[in-house]
Amino acid sequence: MPISNSDFNFIRELVFEHSAIVLEDGKEYLVESRLGPIIKTEGFDTIDQLVKTLRKNPSNGLQYKVTEALTTNETSFFRDIHPFETLKNIILPELIKTRQSTKELNIWCAASSSGQEPYSIAMLIQENFPTLFNWKINFIASDISEKMLNRCRSGTFNQIEVNRGLPAALLIKYFDKNGPVWSIKKELRERIDFQHINLSGELPYLPKMDIIFLRNVLIYFDIGMKKKVLKQLRTVLKPDGYLFLGGAETTLNLDESYTRMGVKYSGCYRLLRG
Ligand SMILES: C[S@@+](CC[C@H](N)C(=O)[O-])C[C@H]1O[C@@H](n2cnc3c(N)ncnc32)[C@H](O)[C@@H]1O
Repeated sequence: MPISNSDFNFIRELVFEHSAIVLEDGKEYLVESRLGPIIKTEGFDTIDQLVKTLRKNPSNGLQYKVTEALTTNETSFFRDIHPFETLKNIILPELIKTRQSTKELNIWCAASSSGQEPYSIAMLIQENFPTLFNWKINFIASDISEKMLNRCRSGTFNQIEVNRGLPAALLIKYFDKNGPVWSIKKELRERIDFQHINLSGELPYLPKMDIIFLRNVLIYFDIGMKKKVLKQLRTVLKPDGYLFLGGAETTLNLDESYTRMGVKYSGCYRLLRG
C-alpha cells in the first residue's frame, strides 16, 4: 500500500529532526522502499502501523533505525579521483613541509559511509608517503549511521565494491580475501579512529584539522544547515587547513570565509586569511 501524505510528512519531519536530511516532495517511493526491511524485521505489516507506533512512543530506538534507513550511503574507492590526485600531488607534499617541526597531521572524513573514502586516503598515504605514518597522525572517520560505522570498522568489502575505483594492484597489496569478501589489512584499519558524529548537532571535541573531507553530504541538507555545518567546520579547520567538498557542492553563497583552490575538479577549499 502506498504511503499516505500524513505518514510521509511524519517520517520526513522525524528524519529532518534527527539528521537534517531533507526528503523532498516526490521522495515517497524512497521512504517506502527504505522502510520495507524495517517493517519486516520489526514485525509490522504496513508503514501505517510503523508510523502509529512511532507517534505513540516517540523515544524508542525505532526513530534512529528509521533515520538511518533514510541516509544515502553511496560511495566508492577514490571517488571522482581528482581530490585524491590533489591530495597526493599538492596538499600532502605541502603539509609535509609546513608540519616538519611538529610532525603531526590531523585528518577527518566527516561522512565516511562504508569506509571506501578513509581507506582510499590511508592507502594513498601508505603508497606515496609511507614515512608519514611515523608521524603522529590523528585520522578520524565519522558518520551518523552506526550501521555504516560498523562496516567501516570491519573494513570488509564485497567484490562489486572493490571493483569500483580500486586499482587491482592496491587490492592485492592491501586486502586479504576471505571467502566472498575482501578485508583491508589490519595495519591500515588500525590507523583510523571511527566515531559516531552527527554533523547537524554540536560537534564533539576534535583536534584542529589539517584536512577535512566533507564530500557528498551537504547535498542532503537545506541552506540553513549547510551554512551551520560550514560555520562549525571553520572552528575545527586549522587556518591553513584544507576542506574537500563533493563535486556538486560549494561554499559559494553559503559561507564567504572559504575560497576555492584553483585546482580543477578537486573541490578543495581554504579559509580566507585575516
Ligand atoms: C553519499 S554518502 C558520502 C560518502 C563519502 N563521503 C563519499 O563522498 O563517497 C553520505 C553519508 O553522509 C552520512 N550522513 C547523512 N547525514 C549525516 C549527518 N547529519 N551527520 C553525519 N553524517 C551524515 C550518511 O550516513 C552517508 O553515509
